[in-house]
Amino acid sequence: MRLLMWLIFLALWGVASAEPGKFWHISDLHLDPNYTVSQDPHKVCPSAGDQLVYNAGPWGDYLCDSPWALINSSIYAMKEIEPKPDFILWTGDDTPHVPNENLGEAAVLEIVGRLTSLIREVFPDTKVYAAMGNHDFHPKSQFPAKSNNIYHQVAELWRPWLNNESVALFKEGAFYSESLLDPSSPGRVVVLNTNLYYSNNRLTADLPDPSQQFQWLDGVLTNASQAGEMVYIIGHVPPGFFEKTRNKAWFREGFNKEYLKLVQKHHKVIVGQFFGHQHTDSFRMFYSDAGEPISVMFLAPGVTPWKTTLVGVVNGSNNPGIRLFEYDRATLSLQDMRTYFMDLRQANVQNNPRWELEYRVTEAYGVPNASVHSMQAAATGIANDQDKLQRYYVYNSVSYNTAACGETCRMEFLCAMQEVDFNAYYTCLSNAGARSGLGALLVLLGMLLSLHVLLKP
Ligand SMILES: *[C@@H]1O[C@H](CO)[C@@H](O)[C@H](O)[C@H]1NC(C)=O
Ligand SMILES: *[C@@H]1O[C@H](CO)[C@@H](O)[C@H](O)[C@H]1NC(C)=O
Ligand SMILES: *[C@@H]1O[C@H](CO)[C@@H](O)[C@H](O)[C@H]1NC(C)=O
Ligand SMILES: *[C@@H]1O[C@H](CO)[C@@H](O)[C@H](O)[C@H]1NC(C)=O
Ligand SMILES: *[C@@H]1O[C@H](CO)[C@@H](O)[C@H](O)[C@H]1NC(C)=O
Ligand SMILES: *[C@@H]1O[C@H](CO)[C@@H](O)[C@H](O)[C@H]1NC(C)=O
Ligand SMILES: [Zn+2]
Ligand SMILES: [Zn+2]
Repeated sequence: MRLLMWLIFLALWGVASAEPGKFWHISDLHLDPNYTVSQDPHKVCPSAGDQLVYNAGPWGDYLCDSPWALINSSIYAMKEIEPKPDFILWTGDDTPHVPNENLGEAAVLEIVGRLTSLIREVFPDTKVYAAMGNHDFHPKSQFPAKSNNIYHQVAELWRPWLNNESVALFKEGAFYSESLLDPSSPGRVVVLNTNLYYSNNRLTADLPDPSQQFQWLDGVLTNASQAGEMVYIIGHVPPGFFEKTRNKAWFREGFNKEYLKLVQKHHKVIVGQFFGHQHTDSFRMFYSDAGEPISVMFLAPGVTPWKTTLVGVVNGSNNPGIRLFEYDRATLSLQDMRTYFMDLRQANVQNNPRWELEYRVTEAYGVPNASVHSMQAAATGIANDQDKLQRYYVYNSVSYNTAACGETCRMEFLCAMQEVDFNAYYTCLSNAGARSGLGALLVLLGMLLSLHVLLKP
């Protein structure tokens, strides 16, 4: 009898420990506190700038940042879909896209505080790893490489999620690292302040290593390696290029190089990188000098549907998205990623904020898990199979833009996905350009030849 009990216990325990862990990743909530459902197209939202907003709905508009109702709905949807995640990653950008004059430091801090309270209210017992976005500062993007009042206040807002050492570190540079709570996973989360590397940040342009964050990161990853820990890195502004236009990088070139160097040096302990800022759903592959895939970065879509004003981007809106990862608690290896979304148009028409599964990464690209090797297989599939490319393109805007991804789109999406290094990216574009140029030339030659044949007497 006792033996039987033991066997049942062991079986249950085995099932429980085989069950994957889960965590949420949310990004770019961008609350517009002045969003109003008005019939006057001038009055709907300050975040639309001069654009007129017609037929605004209660859950938001593709020209505007998020109304409170949308943000509230996204956090409660997380609770309904997966109420007991092991932790939550939150990668910043809380305030609306409006001129600095219309916000100010107090307004920025108030908005960061409102979102922090909401997440704590809905997930009171869940650990949140939070990074600041370039919009979570005043003036926006101007993050200093030294202690200041905003880092100080945000560290206090996030104190419930931090240990004392992290609070102290955060007040200096807005970055920190902590080991995961679960003692069965020898894991660590590193939260970076990559706003220090953003090309729009004038304060750090001439510094070799702002806030010594690179040196610190090197130390953290060296220690993790010695302790046998596996690491997730999170941040807001990502390295590499924006896929929805051409030649648009976010980091300054020197910082991009340095970041890549550290990933190459420590890739064995980095199991995943999770960033935001672009509001689009995509991923980035990192390679060794020998061309072996060594790391993958997942870029989460925004909750805000706001249409980007970046020059050269057409159709820059997206549906609101949130995402859930499944991982192995013992190794942190990523098993799957599910993106959930709200079809904003439909939500407004039906006045029903429905969040539904958009896709699972394993199913969409036919890969066994979300590891580096599987994501390399996914990338190869996207590069070689027009159906997979089209799928990747539709998911990129969270199923907002369903137009066809043509040759220019293909080139820009693939080069951004596979080349994070500046020179490698430029080479990728010019090779792809040369290929399609050569293709056009061959077609022309073929036409001339057949014309020649036809005209032959
Ligand atoms: C937030 O969402 C929850 C769940 O849908 C709802 O019960 C609550 O009324 C909402 N609150 C606001 C202020 O919209
Ligand atoms: C919202 O409206 C108030 C009152 O008109 C104004 O002071 C504030 O600047 C506006 N906020 C934003 C983000 O536009
Ligand atoms: C953390 O800091 C708080 C306030 O400064 C203090 O009350 C608390 O004892 C500290 N906790 C630990 C574990 O050191
Ligand atoms: C690495 O570990 C050493 C020894 O425990 C510690 O003194 C140092 O602060 C750690 N480095 C970082 C960046 O955490
Ligand atoms: C993930 O998939 C790869 C194949 O892409 C396989 O080699 C690896 O063992 C899998 N990892 C886990 C933890 O299942
Ligand atoms: C923009 O998106 C809309 C909605 O999906 C689509 O009808 C239109 O063709 C797209 N235009 C371009 C240039 O992608
Ligand atoms: Zn953003
Ligand atoms: Zn941003």
